[in-house]
Amino acid sequence: RMYKRQMICRRDIDSLNVPFLLMYQSLIPPDEEKVKQKQLLSLLERLVIKEWPKARLYLYGSCANSFGISKSDIDVCLAIEEAHMDKSKLIMKLADILQSDNLQNVQALIHARVPIVKLMDPMTGISCDICINNLLAVVNTKLLWDYSRIDARLRQLAFIIKHWAKSRRVNETYHGTLSSYAYVLMCINFLQQRRPAILPCLQEMKTTYSVTVDDIDCSFFDQVEKLYDFGHRNKETIAQLVWGFFYYWAYCHDYTNDVISVRTGSIISKREKNWTRRIGNDRHLICIEDPFEMSHDLGRVVDKHSIKVLREEFERAADIMQFDPNPCVKLFEPY
Ligand code: GTP
Ligand code: MG
Repeated sequence: RMYKRQMICRRDIDSLNVPFLLMYQSLIPPDEEKVKQKQLLSLLERLVIKEWPKARLYLYGSCANSFGISKSDIDVCLAIEEAHMDKSKLIMKLADILQSDNLQNVQALIHARVPIVKLMDPMTGISCDICINNLLAVVNTKLLWDYSRIDARLRQLAFIIKHWAKSRRVNETYHGTLSSYAYVLMCINFLQQRRPAILPCLQEMKTTYSVTVDDIDCSFFDQVEKLYDFGHRNKETIAQLVWGFFYYWAYCHDYTNDVISVRTGSIISKREKNWTRRIGNDRHLICIEDPFEMSHDLGRVVDKHSIKVLREEFERAADIMQFDPNPCVKLFEPY
């Protein structure tokens, strides 16, 4: 494989900033959507509390991490102390409780990797997945949200990458490509790696926020107001970063040896994590370390076939960014 395709400077690269920024703006969910999400959440809260007065509901995923594109579903986590009760039983009971009121299509999916209740609110048209006691997801949602507030370029880059991934159909974990969560981690790590860096590594800084979830210590620096000028010395524009991102994943990433790690703000080796060979269904063909669950590789869903698809898409995107007269159209052409 040709690693060293030259990244020749494209002289008109900065003329792409305006179209990319317009695209980013068009993807931001309108305020009404946020209001509707809050309404649905309070409805759910009322129903749940009748049965479990001490229960709490948390939003997580893209509706709370600031990386939500318009018309996303919402992810909700029910925190409850019924540890003695079997998860599937709890899910079925939750489905029962919610069924009774004015919600549609309440389904209990007890055989999924993470068992959930799925439902649709006909009032707002919003769909929602509810899981139980998945507090790690609530904490990583906060980490992503805190990163998004440091430098505006992260949210811009992540929206464009997510939109590209959805258009090109490489955001489908059930087909062996990557989750939105994985793409956002790739963007954060990419900005941590720029020189000068655009993002710091919050987990390597002084601890100002700390929780322990499932025996995992989750601590990081969360006073990000103090970091608003962190990336100022780096003047790269959004067009340069989109190009750089695709160029990195097409021609520079060492798929044989490297692991992307937001936790350390660097690239670490597969060898030190023992991710050099397939174990069970985890093939580790592209490695993205979860910031808190260190043994969790977000790339584990990628298989022999989908790694090829993914790399070809990265190459296609990098080549479009380099040579196409109108990259903003070509890049997002539906697959
Ligand atoms: P969209 O729904 O595509 O807009 O993005 P999303 O941010 O909601 O992402 P996704 O549905 O991929 O993930 C939802 C949340 O689940 C993430 O934000 C994480 O908090 C959490 N999560 C933790 N581990 C995993 C994992 O292995 N895969 C996925 N998909 N999500 C995880
Ligand atoms: Mg989601």
